[in-house]
Amino acid sequence: MLDIKDIRKEFPILDSQIYGKTLIYLDNAATTQKPLCVIDTISNVYTTMNANVHRGIHHLSQVATTAMEGSRETVRKFIGAEHSHEIIFTRGTTESINLVASSFGGTYLKAGDEVIISTMEHHSNIVPWQLLQERIGIKLRIIPLTAECGLDIEAYKRLFNGQTRLVSVAHVSNVLGVTNPVKEIIEIAHSHDVPVLIDGAQSIPHTRIDIQELDADFFVFSGHKIYGPTGVGVLYGKEKWLNAMQPYHGGGEMIKTVRFEKTTFNELPYKFEAGTPDYVGIIALGKALEWVDSLGIENIAMHEHELTRYAVEKLNTIPGIRIFGKPDGAALSFLIGDIHPADLGTILDRLGIAIRTGHHCAQPLIDYLGIPGTARASFAVYNTKEDIDIFIKGVERAVKMLS
Ligand code: ALA
Repeated sequence: MLDIKDIRKEFPILDSQIYGKTLIYLDNAATTQKPLCVIDTISNVYTTMNANVHRGIHHLSQVATTAMEGSRETVRKFIGAEHSHEIIFTRGTTESINLVASSFGGTYLKAGDEVIISTMEHHSNIVPWQLLQERIGIKLRIIPLTAECGLDIEAYKRLFNGQTRLVSVAHVSNVLGVTNPVKEIIEIAHSHDVPVLIDGAQSIPHTRIDIQELDADFFVFSGHKIYGPTGVGVLYGKEKWLNAMQPYHGGGEMIKTVRFEKTTFNELPYKFEAGTPDYVGIIALGKALEWVDSLGIENIAMHEHELTRYAVEKLNTIPGIRIFGKPDGAALSFLIGDIHPADLGTILDRLGIAIRTGHHCAQPLIDYLGIPGTARASFAVYNTKEDIDIFIKGVERAVKMLS
């Protein structure tokens, strides 16, 4: 069992006073707060080992390079990948998906080819494919939802045809907090010889990922949603795809030789890491994952599931409440009567309670639901039932003021 009181001590920001009230931070699906060990790592790297990586013959550069490559190994172990060169560091989930769209698209896709995504995708798993639609002329096929806001798997099976080249879906919806049956989705795609990208931005902080067991071809996530720093993320790709795919960005580090007549490219993972990487962020991400490991992701998940269950139970006592889908993770979206979510969010903010409201970068899903947006509460390991009690009281107060 986790000692949440103890864990909270590692997050000084949780003691912040917002308009004279102690912060209740329930916007963890947008970004998590950082434990002191991650904040200290950033400071330590700059204080004791700052030098550009993979370039220097000198001592500091070698120390920084070893620490950065240590983080790659930490990520490899964290998701159970076979090789550390299958771990590509990016700026985050968005860049990881853009990389695959550009490099997989540039290598394998031509006009008329089809990519399957779903109704509940984040814009970062829609727009990169639309850019490819304009550039190459691919077609997007969209998995519809069931009445319960889950993915319609029977309809998904019917989307495959001779032109299907890739499936790209979210593991957990950032709006609904529902977990998609990604193993089944991957098995179905593989039975058609189609590779699958899983957007793990919302699952990585809450779920044990065993990438080899899952058999995803690509898996992407951001560091800042799992207690790591902003601006750093991961693309996992199976070696066979990454080796075959053309590079994404051109520049230093990703080359073997450069001549004006012809350039040859570096081996994995460097082929996809042009320019000076955010080695400070990467080293701090490694620390964040070690910190999560020290608590045990299963323990974190159990705690968060209990918070979600408790929040759903309490919210359901509020007249006029609508909770969308069947949240089974660490986030939930709701509306109350005809109260606009932005009004609700603004009042909660004045009470020191941080939630997210709006379309959550998933406008097609919000349009499909026929609503103006939702109010979303999302939890992390440092949240408590007391946080939820204060949140529920805040919601009740806002409802009184707005009705
Ligand atoms: N994708 C993040 C969210 O859902 C920013 O809030």
